[in-house]
Amino acid sequence: MESDKSLLESVEAMRQEIDAADIGSEQEAEAFRVRYLGQKNGLVTNLFKRIREVPPEDRREAGQQLNALRKLAETRLETAREALRDTQSGQQAAIDLTLPGRRPTPPGSVHPLTKTLHDITRIFERLGFTIADGPEIEDDWHNFTALNFPPDHPARDMQDTLFVEASEGGTGGVMLRTHTSPVQIRAMMAGKPPFRLIAPGRVYRNESITYKSYCLFHQVEGLVVDEGVTMADLKHVLYTFAQTYFGDDVTLRFRPSFFPFTEPSAELDIWWPLPDHPQGGRWMEILGSGMVDPNVLEAVGIDSERYTGYAFGMGVERPAMLRYGIDDIRIFYENDVRFLEQF
Ligand code: PHE
Repeated sequence: MESDKSLLESVEAMRQEIDAADIGSEQEAEAFRVRYLGQKNGLVTNLFKRIREVPPEDRREAGQQLNALRKLAETRLETAREALRDTQSGQQAAIDLTLPGRRPTPPGSVHPLTKTLHDITRIFERLGFTIADGPEIEDDWHNFTALNFPPDHPARDMQDTLFVEASEGGTGGVMLRTHTSPVQIRAMMAGKPPFRLIAPGRVYRNESITYKSYCLFHQVEGLVVDEGVTMADLKHVLYTFAQTYFGDDVTLRFRPSFFPFTEPSAELDIWWPLPDHPQGGRWMEILGSGMVDPNVLEAVGIDSERYTGYAFGMGVERPAMLRYGIDDIRIFYENDVRFLEQF
């Protein structure tokens, strides 16, 4: 009993000593380790050897006390070494942890035209259309001839089209595409019907630059070719698109029109309410459309007796302007941060 007491007393004394030990450097940490935890003559290690003095029924308790003491010494050593490492690296990097954090650079936002283009293509994707792509520099055949433009059509004039290589006598030449219809010609040349695709992208025209026209703009054109396709399919898809994009309560008007590559042709207008307008609003044209002309199908080697199709095309700028209340098209291309920040 006597020796048992004295072991516990020794443990208690050593606990206080370890608690109070001052470890302020790497050398002191090493000295601490040797003094208490050293394999040969460490003070804590030696106390373990005295467990033999304890009567068997008290050994369990004494063992626990000893283990706790060793754990305390180890923890003190570890904590001290960590603190030493921290101050060392702190001095090296001179990090001031009290400084306020740095604000991350604003990530920017999606350009309203890109957003509108995505919104439009998304709706057509949900209607089962795939996306087709093509070059922005086109030849006369893809941009005009295959699309049934007559040789003397005004679009073939330098005044309307931006040529890279001039045309000769009306046809030929290389130009910045004036619409994305040549993408549809390329798609039809490359595959076999049925087709159900849209061609989004940038197009160019030699327009004077005003609040409502620019030398470049964006289009989404669509093409469906299959057996038994009718104007009813065309109208259904376009109405579905317009109602999804502008809202179910939008008022639509389908109006006869003309395009060289479609027959019959129609344009789709939406009624845009304007409180200050004498008529309370006005009709806005949002897209052109029609049944694909047999001459176009034959030009790309599709049997026009067996297949019919429809096509449509719309600008991206107009719906973006209506939707976001933008009244000058030029602002899209100026990259003015004050404009872009609003989106
Ligand atoms: N390609 C025409 C344009 O750029 C748009 C359109 C496409 C019209 C398909 C009808 C059918 O103006």
